Amino acid sequence: MTPQQVHLIRKTFAELSRHDHVAALVFYKRLFELAPELRPMFRGDIEVQSKKLIDMLGVLIAMLERPLGLELELKAMGARHAGYGVKDEHYAVVGAALMAMMAEALDKDFTPEVRAAWTALYSAVETLMKAGAAEVAHEAVR
Ligand code: HEM
Repeated sequence: MTPQQVHLIRKTFAELSRHDHVAALVFYKRLFELAPELRPMFRGDIEVQSKKLIDMLGVLIAMLERPLGLELELKAMGARHAGYGVKDEHYAVVGAALMAMMAEALDKDFTPEVRAAWTALYSAVETLMKAGAAEVAHEAVR
């Protein structure tokens, strides 16, 4: 990622954190429109869910700080997600809900550059999480 992309992500993350409740409402609404079958996986009220969404974005941000150190952690997180019932194809749906939420929350600040920066970051994290999930799946059949 370029320094400019890192800058854009930090700036927009700060803005999203200030509107975490609205962001969570928009994110989960869009997610369950796209994939209603995911609804039972998520429990908790809006407080809990908005905290989780910000945690999720925080994990993405951590990836900027120390991409190498995070590799094992993200793989372990991907393996835990497989345990929650998350399948590979769900990552694209969550990514789409995340972008829709950002478009709404950031409005005119959601420029094509901002979208590209978050997409690059999400895809790096997604790749590692899927690799972690594949490793546990592999171990399970051995
Ligand atoms: C870049 C992608 C993602 C990140 C960074 C992320 C991050 C997190 C984090 C930090 C947690 C807290 C628990 C833990 O660490 O294991 C969590 C929980 C969870 N995530 Fe994700 N996640 C991602 C993608 C997904 C996807 C694609 C799904 C599919 C629906 C999903 C569903 C869940 C569920 C069901 C929980 C548990 C929720 C609960 O206990 O209510 N996540 N996620």
